[in-house]
Amino acid sequence: MPTHSKPNIYLIGFMGTGKSTIGRQLARQLDYQFVDSDRAIESEAGMPIPEIFEKQGEETFRVMEKAFVETGHPQESCVVSCGGGLIFQPELKERLQDRGIVITLFASPETIFERTRANKNRPLLNVKDPQAEIERLLNERLPVYRDAGIGVLTDGRCVNDIVAHIVRIYRRAVKR
Ligand code: S3P
Repeated sequence: MPTHSKPNIYLIGFMGTGKSTIGRQLARQLDYQFVDSDRAIESEAGMPIPEIFEKQGEETFRVMEKAFVETGHPQESCVVSCGGGLIFQPELKERLQDRGIVITLFASPETIFERTRANKNRPLLNVKDPQAEIERLLNERLPVYRDAGIGVLTDGRCVNDIVAHIVRIYRRAVKR
């Protein structure tokens, strides 16, 4: 359990579950800083994620995610949207849980496909059959997503609704 009076909120979950959109609005509502791990890494690396994957490989990107968690973001009063694979690295899930309240956003494979299909900046989905890949990877990752944070469903709900739901969870969790 975090000890700060304004612990961070970490939004985790699969690609296309709305972490950045929801995170930005959530931060505005709480008057917290908003940080997106992908954008922070891109700005540190000086190149977009597809280029990091292409030139330096996924392994290097994962090292950058670890550095982001360890030293690359404020320790309190912050809403952090985490790249979908970040918590799968050893100890990162526990690090986030120690430092803040972890919320997992969920969406169905169909919703995820619709939300991600137009955008080519996710190397893991730049494959021949992204729909099948979403199903496969989501199934593989679901147990960890379920276990890592407090779950919030996003299918068919508007951003305001989801943000209000997370604010309630957060206020309950930090009330000591
Ligand atoms: C990834 C998710 C992406 C980004 C990278 C890898 C993953 O972030 O970090 O392409 O492994 O699920 P979003 O979840 O913000 O799309």
